[in-house]
Amino acid sequence: MIGMFDSGLGGLSVWRELARQMPGESVIYLADRDWCPYGPRSHGEIEARSIRIAQWLFDQGASSLVIACNTATSAAAASLRARYPHIPIIGMEPAIKPAALASLSSQIAVLATRATLSGDKLQHLALRYHEQTRMTLLPGDGFVEQVEAGDLDSPATQDIVRQALAPLTGSRVDQIVLGCTHYPFLAPQIAACWPDAALIDPAGAVCRQIRRLLQAHGLSAQAGNRPHYRFVSTAAATDMERFLSRVLGLDAIVESVALP
Ligand code: DGL
Repeated sequence: MIGMFDSGLGGLSVWRELARQMPGESVIYLADRDWCPYGPRSHGEIEARSIRIAQWLFDQGASSLVIACNTATSAAAASLRARYPHIPIIGMEPAIKPAALASLSSQIAVLATRATLSGDKLQHLALRYHEQTRMTLLPGDGFVEQVEAGDLDSPATQDIVRQALAPLTGSRVDQIVLGCTHYPFLAPQIAACWPDAALIDPAGAVCRQIRRLLQAHGLSAQAGNRPHYRFVSTAAATDMERFLSRVLGLDAIVESVALP
């Protein structure tokens, strides 16, 4: 069973892709909604919290870990890998390389939380591509909150998206990297504001990497396996159940847990 977590509902965009690419894999998904959003928290706080969550998922029987959160990946992936060297651990990668390669105008934008945008990983990638590609960094202020509230298309959400994309005015940006797992749920709003760009969601590439690692560790499900999906939240269950049903068409029970 794969253990997967995010600060909240965003990582479900990765779960959705995983269920599509690997329909036999069972998953336990933890939404840390009691602590959401992670963006404004310190690196050390997110790191310690991620270790607690990972340990809990392993205690529940997970034999691999997907950090379905860009913010937690930059804060905690290295220490999780050092702590659990025998367990396959996969994090999110901001898809800057594919965006830079696909761009015809050599102008791309990265939309992510402020924590991810200022993190070492992104700064490092930005430096690597800055000579060939002009990169605009766009903080998605308020996006995570709108997705958590299940408010994907109200005028208020459209306004929040419009404000975040305003710095693109006058540019020739033709690729927008979705650098936070919550943002694919706002893809129609983002596309409506800036129709000239392709939106790059790294979930597809991350899931291909999950498949490779599971195979390498002999952990892939048997062909034809019927998967079991377990959804867990550190806050109340009801609105996550509503989101699963309304956005993903899934009638599932969500368990509410307190982490030890
Ligand atoms: N889905 C998380 C990410 O990918 C959201 C972070 C947050 O809670 O601020 O970064």
